[in-house]
Amino acid sequence: MSTRTWSWAALVAVLVGATMVLSSCKSSGQVSGKKVTGQALDIDVTTFGKMPDGQEVKLYTLTNAKGATAKITNYGAIVVSLQMPDAKGKMDDIVLGYDDLDGYLKVTPYFGAIVGRYGNRIGGGKFTLDGVTYTLATNDKTNHLHGGNKGFDKVVWDHRMVWKADAVGVELTYLSKDGEEGYPGNLKATVTYLLTNKNELQIDYLATTDKATPVNLTHHGYFNLTGGTRDILGHELMLNADTFTPVDAGLIPTGELQAVAGTPMDFTKASPIGARIEADFEQLKAGGGYDHNWVLNRKGKGLSLAAKVTEPTTGRVMEVWTTEPGIQFYAGNFLDGTITGKAGRVYQHRWGFCLETQHFPDSPNKPSFPSTILRPGEKYETTTIYRFSAK
Ligand code: BGC
Repeated sequence: MSTRTWSWAALVAVLVGATMVLSSCKSSGQVSGKKVTGQALDIDVTTFGKMPDGQEVKLYTLTNAKGATAKITNYGAIVVSLQMPDAKGKMDDIVLGYDDLDGYLKVTPYFGAIVGRYGNRIGGGKFTLDGVTYTLATNDKTNHLHGGNKGFDKVVWDHRMVWKADAVGVELTYLSKDGEEGYPGNLKATVTYLLTNKNELQIDYLATTDKATPVNLTHHGYFNLTGGTRDILGHELMLNADTFTPVDAGLIPTGELQAVAGTPMDFTKASPIGARIEADFEQLKAGGGYDHNWVLNRKGKGLSLAAKVTEPTTGRVMEVWTTEPGIQFYAGNFLDGTITGKAGRVYQHRWGFCLETQHFPDSPNKPSFPSTILRPGEKYETTTIYRFSAK
């Protein structure tokens, strides 16, 4: 962790008559100073728990002008809760996770975390770059998954508040050392979560390196727009993708792009997640349901609509906008009722779904896929927005 001390952090008055906020934040993990009441946007910082070595972990509660909230911890850059209104204005927590830090420390299928250095799988845990073969930690049978044994979801990030005129947020920084989990180069990663007044959770990713390395950062939130009261099979999903990357039995892409038309992978028109998930279709067998990367239909650079999910009983709608070329739609197939999450709720089969914006899995071994290699002097910069509404 860097020894740098952050200078006086953000200082903003967003409304006339608003009380100003002054906060000082050190990269050692201490935050002092806090908001004073009287303004619509709000950031509250409390202690979430302690790491086994005694290090304190924080919990940021971001509140926007509409009263929506996001709770984010600097352990794993995890979104612990996300409260969004339904069609009647009722707030509910629409992401899976745990009530306390201990839950996340014991066992978690990446609930709400940022995964890296490489989100998704790298086949055989190996890749060759500039003539050198690198061997990564293998934590998913013979493959590397979500950064290895101790990925970005299991480290303590430096943190500081972000105040904007129409949003509040937290900026999280992590220095992944040369050789960590087998990756080359010191990688400095910054992830900024913003909760905007438009009920959006915006995630900006930034990274730089001192040696060429693969990078693929994503958010691993498990959404359940009912508020977590039942499985996600009734959610209606649209994916803006005409093709997907088919996988082998170990969920490693074969390298081909396959058309979705005429298959249960076709979500170009909204369809309930559960409508075809048990179909007799080879690709649905390996992951026990949907667990694939879709190739997004994009026009040029910039933010583009990747997915739209509607939950009919509450009217909640989630749109996913991204600068990334792909999205992993994972239907929570490996949830099996063995995890008890927030408020004592048991997470049964397919109780949450993930929409992980990304570059394609195993890209370091697939020259035909868009490159995931970041070189010294370059900037890795991507943005994803989860936008919520209700109808
Ligand atoms: C992957 C699944 C994996 C899950 C872990 C998802 O991103 O696609 O295959 O089991 O993460 O919780």
